[in-house]
Amino acid sequence: MSGDESGAISDEVARLFRQRMEMGGDEVFLDRMTREEVLSILSHSVRSSVAGRNQAVLESALSDNVSEPVKGVAAMQRATREISEQGSGGPPLPVELPDDYERLREVALGCSKCPLSEGRTQVVFSDGSRTADLMVVGEAPGANEDATGVPFVGVAGQFLDLLLATIGRNRKDSVYIANVLKCRPPGNRDPDPGEIAECSPFLLKQIDFVKPSAILAVGSFSARLLTGLEGVALGKLRGQVHKYHGVPLVVTYHPAALLRNRRWIRSFWEDLQLLRSIIDVD
Ligand code: URA
Repeated sequence: MSGDESGAISDEVARLFRQRMEMGGDEVFLDRMTREEVLSILSHSVRSSVAGRNQAVLESALSDNVSEPVKGVAAMQRATREISEQGSGGPPLPVELPDDYERLREVALGCSKCPLSEGRTQVVFSDGSRTADLMVVGEAPGANEDATGVPFVGVAGQFLDLLLATIGRNRKDSVYIANVLKCRPPGNRDPDPGEIAECSPFLLKQIDFVKPSAILAVGSFSARLLTGLEGVALGKLRGQVHKYHGVPLVVTYHPAALLRNRRWIRSFWEDLQLLRSIIDVD
């Protein structure tokens, strides 16, 4: 990752915290974590080459206003839980795939059901903890993920890690991450409906194995797949709790989209608070 890119991430995170301050006067949602704990989590969640700079920017973003657990979280949670819960469902669980997790992974790694398999370097199956109560679902691997076999390791992924860290989550032990597509579409183009139909059964099976308490779908492809609400704009799907086969589902913008459009960061943050209110209650 270039210095410019890491700087952009740091700037986005600093901006995120500033927006919280704008929204809550002198408040930033850190809940039960102290500033030091958040900074420690954040510094471990970024690559060592960029950690110093990110930490410095975060230090400065947090320095004035955040030292105590904040007021206002309960009010926000009350407000978000008043939003109606939708139970639109999503696709049925596939029956044709193995009922053993390792076997499922092997089948995915050897899959050649669609032409994406011809151009891939690696199948990108998952990252994170299989015992996590939170599952994050993205769209498809990009170049970095295709090269490493790990989801969300590029710039957008590092930004996602930082955002998740602000609600005390990390992929080492408290998040499981997977994508709708397991192979990279050429040139990072959008997944096509045929590819989604062939590949998404792996994801649905992964959800069934992990049995998360809540799912965060980032971007419109995972949002539409899991809500079953095809063709609905993401802006209309977000800000409420859906259900995927009974599992609370929050949908929000893709971290790559946040890096392109900073105005959506506030909405993403609100969706994270909604998500946290569900997980905390559970
Ligand atoms: N974007 C995604 O949706 N998933 C990845 O793994 C990387 C980028």
